[in-house]
Amino acid sequence: MSGGRLAKPKTSRKMKHELHVAEHPRPLETRVDGSIPAQAALRSGPELSIIVPTFNERENIGELIGRLALCLGNRSWEVVFVDDDSPDGTADIVREYAAADSRVRCLQRVGRRGLSSASIEGMLSTSGPYVAVIDADLQHDERLLPQMLDLLKQEADTDIVVGSRYAPGGDVSDWDVRRARMSRLAVRLSRVLVPAELTDPMSGFFMMRRSVLQGSVHRLSAIGFKILTDLFASFPRPLRYKELAYRFRVRRAGESKVDSVMAWDYVMLLLDKLVGRWIPARFLAFSIVGAAGVAVHFAIFTVIFQGMHRRFVVGQALATLGAMTFNYTVNNALTYRDMRLRGLLWLRGWVSFVLACSIGGAANLGLASMVYGLGRGWFPAAAAGILIGAVWNYAVTMMLTWGRKSR
Ligand code: GDD
Ligand code: MN
Repeated sequence: MSGGRLAKPKTSRKMKHELHVAEHPRPLETRVDGSIPAQAALRSGPELSIIVPTFNERENIGELIGRLALCLGNRSWEVVFVDDDSPDGTADIVREYAAADSRVRCLQRVGRRGLSSASIEGMLSTSGPYVAVIDADLQHDERLLPQMLDLLKQEADTDIVVGSRYAPGGDVSDWDVRRARMSRLAVRLSRVLVPAELTDPMSGFFMMRRSVLQGSVHRLSAIGFKILTDLFASFPRPLRYKELAYRFRVRRAGESKVDSVMAWDYVMLLLDKLVGRWIPARFLAFSIVGAAGVAVHFAIFTVIFQGMHRRFVVGQALATLGAMTFNYTVNNALTYRDMRLRGLLWLRGWVSFVLACSIGGAANLGLASMVYGLGRGWFPAAAAGILIGAVWNYAVTMMLTWGRKSR
């Protein structure tokens, strides 16, 4: 799923049947040798699957498992931690708990980052008829989980229950002014996608029926942090939701992973939802960065050609290399943030990027001159050249520069 969007396998016709089985567990007809039903081996799966995305959360794992066990009592549940190979060894800690308690599992992803994609893949690794997502740092109030579950079980026409910081009675406790303002702005932007009058479309805390996941999974963008917005925008009809207010607590241990780049991820999610069907969001990002690269090119060129009075070719060559390096660095930090190259891999990536873009530049020149030769003026010629160059650079660097890491 490294391309951001989940692959699109054919929709399963058996889905309805499977859901039925999941919501009303009954012995499957498994026969060991064709005669004896394997009843002895049967132990039905849990009713509630709780997914916890983690990155550097080792200090919080034990506390969260303890609190889940406490508030869920003897209900049938499991918890899957989806860890993106945290350097602090979160996955090892989770596996220690898993070894002692079969309700706990660890899904460790290597070479990947992202809260949304982690949550989605975690959900897909389970089979409970009800699935919940909650953060590891205990900012979300886990005591709402039993209530969420009861609500879904009692009200057949509720698809999803959302923990809300902004519903009456909810609160964001000690957020600073900037973070609170950013969050409110994001909420307003999300109205384009989330038709419902949801008070907290940014929430990372919710529980839903498995059918909601199955109905949206092939359309999810899986970009960044805002999985709830993604779900609402991807489900084929408006989701019927309920909100439960809670007080967003202070992070228990460790650090928040939210930074200003999250805003970029959010814009990418919005773009992918709005135009992703026709143009990949990554291509748009790549093009925006490319446009900024043109400005960098001219800045460097001006300094070298006019300021330092070097020859035209020298200015042009250095400006080209500078712009490529700028494009590479920014794309690596933003467009391919989830597959960011570091250290020696960064250097190898830079070489492949410069090589690929040089060929892209040649293609640009070639096509532009050809179209110009048709005598329709410079604009269509330049536009055609830029388009072929951008598409080439995007496609080739996607495979050569960033595609390698996943292999
Ligand atoms: N697997 C994985 N990969 N997990 C991640 C990643 C990642 O790249 N980044 C963050 N996480 C995990 C954290 O370890 C934590 O369990 C959870 O996702 C939330 O990350 P925080 O860094 O604590 O985010 P926050 O507290 O600022 O915001 C959270 O709560 C908000 C309110 O519900 C997020 O869930 C927001 O999406 C949400 O709006
Ligand atoms: Mn948090």
